[in-house]
Amino acid sequence: MKRHLLSAADLTRDDAELVLTTAAELRSLADRPIKKLPALRGRTVVNLFFEDSTRTRISFEAAAKRLSADVINFAAKGSSLSKGESLKDTALTLEAMGADAVVIRHSASGAPHRLAHSGWVRSSVVNAGDGTHEHPTQALLDAFTLWRHLGESKPSGLEGRRVAIVGDVLHSRVARSNALLLQTLGVDVTLVGPPTLLPVGVESWGVDTSYDLDAVLPKVDAVMMLRVQRERMQGGFFPTPREYSRRYGLDGRRMATLQDHTIVMHPGPMVRGMEITADVADSDRSVIVEQVTNGVAVRMAVLYLLLGGSENPE
Ligand code: CP
Repeated sequence: MKRHLLSAADLTRDDAELVLTTAAELRSLADRPIKKLPALRGRTVVNLFFEDSTRTRISFEAAAKRLSADVINFAAKGSSLSKGESLKDTALTLEAMGADAVVIRHSASGAPHRLAHSGWVRSSVVNAGDGTHEHPTQALLDAFTLWRHLGESKPSGLEGRRVAIVGDVLHSRVARSNALLLQTLGVDVTLVGPPTLLPVGVESWGVDTSYDLDAVLPKVDAVMMLRVQRERMQGGFFPTPREYSRRYGLDGRRMATLQDHTIVMHPGPMVRGMEITADVADSDRSVIVEQVTNGVAVRMAVLYLLLGGSENPE
């Protein structure tokens, strides 16, 4: 593994499979009464969140604590950022506190790269979501969830599986990271959405695209629904929310066209009634809550491997 995890493209197939198999070992911890391991005792992980988060922030904190690291949580709200402090001075402050890893979420695409390559910090930098760019640990936890559900004994068994990623691809860092990582793992990816919500140049991503959700659904092993990120939209990308849901929402009628084994995923947060109906989100096919559980094990694996864990974590 490289020193930083900034993009899903940083991961070779061997790297990605190592994260997934390490996560599988660590996930078994969740079933034990005592969930802690001493693997990162004496190491410090800083969670630096400049943008809102529920799942990613909490799961990185849980992951670091389960590995016995010291954890410092920094939220932009209530910090000296409101007094005009820059990313550089914030980074230098963290460096002075001896951070071994900095987990950063930022609304600006590229902020984690800036932190990693500026020389401001010596620690490993993990991208926890930057603007509309990337969210590599989300892609890893999604791949882990696919692996667990599609019945393969090894991550290499994902080769040739088919996944549809549906909705607001244009604004989705989750879609971009998944397109990269799933291709690395040999998965066939189809991006589905209205023409206005597929990025210009998407053909260079190396994946299939479709505007026709009904045609794609019966062919896939997993369908990953994306939130419509209206907070990032200026202007009209579709006529009305009702029209969007009619064309690109996953409801009970569409779910009935899926193959028996096909799973339904969503990175969260969901807008029930927009891209997914409540009956689908709460159905037996939905693995949305399990994705959150898997996020802890995957982020434990990432921290463990980046911070130099070479021996069995136990
Ligand atoms: N999936 C995801 O990144 O969720 P949060 O925004 O709650 O962290």
